[in-house]
Amino acid sequence: MKVSIIGGGGRVGACAAFALQCGGIVSDIQIIDANRETAEGEALDLLHGAAMTADQRIHVGNYADGADSDVFLVTAGLRRKPDESRLDLINRNLGLFNQIMESIKSAGMKRDAIVFVVSNPVDILTMQAVRVLGLPWQQVIGLGTMLDTCRFSSLIAEELSLAATQVKALLLGEHGDTMVPVWSSASVNGLPLTSVPGMNATLQERLYKRTKGSGAEVIKRKGGAGWAVAVAIREVIDAIALNKRTLLPVSTLQSGAYGVRDVCFSVPTVIGREGAIEHVEIDLWPKERMGLQNSARALRDMWSKVA
Ligand code: 2OP
Repeated sequence: MKVSIIGGGGRVGACAAFALQCGGIVSDIQIIDANRETAEGEALDLLHGAAMTADQRIHVGNYADGADSDVFLVTAGLRRKPDESRLDLINRNLGLFNQIMESIKSAGMKRDAIVFVVSNPVDILTMQAVRVLGLPWQQVIGLGTMLDTCRFSSLIAEELSLAATQVKALLLGEHGDTMVPVWSSASVNGLPLTSVPGMNATLQERLYKRTKGSGAEVIKRKGGAGWAVAVAIREVIDAIALNKRTLLPVSTLQSGAYGVRDVCFSVPTVIGREGAIEHVEIDLWPKERMGLQNSARALRDMWSKVA
């Protein structure tokens, strides 16, 4: 399966390329970036590691070279400033994003190609991609709260000295200030997290707030995320490549789950080769359900300013 990383010369795109190389699942990684020199440098650096990672094609290209891609991974965009919300970023990123969408369209794409948006504000840009590309909703996916869910589970595991891979704690809704922690289904090896010794409402709130602020925390220290967002990206791409039908919190156009429609945000979604297959409306506590509706309102309000 061929993945073209638009913005692959940037931190997120390059880390995603490295994660895909180490994962060894996709067969072709093409790096597209406005800064051709940097793109060539990243592709060369990755190529140098090929003998000890995987047998893949790793190369630099342009949109025309990418017309046969199965997945267009869009990571290009300006990064948030530490005190800037993702929604504030929209005005600086929308123009660039529209140019990228037009370039993908004019170069041509396979009928079943998937556009996978990571650039921020990811929910708004996913909605814009749906509008501009005119693809079925299943073929336009945003990373959504995949990264938040990964951070949340990892931070909970660290706090409680649990094995991180056994902790499953979802965040849903907006990849942003209104994201919703789903304690009702949080578990460690299938056991309820809320009943683990040491877990209490105060700690839950502290872990949620730290997760919500993790993007800004990383930006302040090193300028922007890279490693964790890359493995979150790889989780989605592997589900597509292997037609895994895994249930992932990714951002797609909503059509009624939790009473929300006509906005893009994250609900549990089955992901396979055709992209998003269906939304799964798992039971939520009333306050979690209300949190999702609040998240949808915030995004719809921002979308009304963009549209
Ligand atoms: C973050 O939360 C990149 O938005 C991403 O770090």
